[in-house]
Amino acid sequence: MKTIHLNQTDSTNLYLERHLSELPEICSVRADIQTAGRGRLSRQWDSAKGGLWFSVLFKTPTLSPFQLQKVCSLATLKSLKRELELTTKTIVPIEKSPSPEPFLLKWPNDIYYNSKKISGCLQKNILSSTASNCIIGVGVNINNPLPEELIKKAINLKTILSKEIDVEQLYHHISENIERRLSDFSQEELEENYKKHLLIKEGVHVKVLDIVNNNHYTGRVMGYPGETLEIFTEEGLQLSFKAADVTLKSWED
Ligand code: BTN
Repeated sequence: MKTIHLNQTDSTNLYLERHLSELPEICSVRADIQTAGRGRLSRQWDSAKGGLWFSVLFKTPTLSPFQLQKVCSLATLKSLKRELELTTKTIVPIEKSPSPEPFLLKWPNDIYYNSKKISGCLQKNILSSTASNCIIGVGVNINNPLPEELIKKAINLKTILSKEIDVEQLYHHISENIERRLSDFSQEELEENYKKHLLIKEGVHVKVLDIVNNNHYTGRVMGYPGETLEIFTEEGLQLSFKAADVTLKSWED
């Protein structure tokens, strides 16, 4: 995969969008700093130096954008887990995870460690009359300091492992991991892997905040069919949500 390294850009997603026509079929760009990093639901994404901020362009992909997101987030999760395993052989981490799977996915594709967010994923589809292209942006808190207001709900890898991490090396591992998953692609394996790493499993009591209609719903998770989240409310309603519209919170949050 062609990779581009920038010292600074507004957003790696936007960079790929601007350079779409001159880039190859699959290409990844990483920036040390993003001055206008964007998160889901049009939120700002804090992108200070020390974090891993990258986006991958897939031109006319054979996989759906949702599958590509899952591929990228699972590749990131596995590389984080490997980093943790390599480190725990020599150093005892200060923040141990009680779960057998230390890193978990919160629907749609956030990565959590001990109920704190370490990574997020942002997808953008660019459709024209002749092609459909997909950009998947991934942000991982590595050595970057977290803003005060995020300390309670977010974490970086440096805190988990009590050491500074080589961001470039981790990025290359994730990129290789993405390529491998694409060349050996199996839908069954992808779903199995995704389900195995889910933070909020079926039956868990949740609150869903619908930002489009400014509403919230509570109920139990029935499942994550296709690209949706389905819940069963206390009133007996079965509701279905798209990731683009809602934030999911487990009842304990
Ligand atoms: C989220 O959890 O809300 C998604 C965060 C996605 C952040 C990444 S960082 C690289 C890429 N560029 C952006 O502007 N956003 C994504």
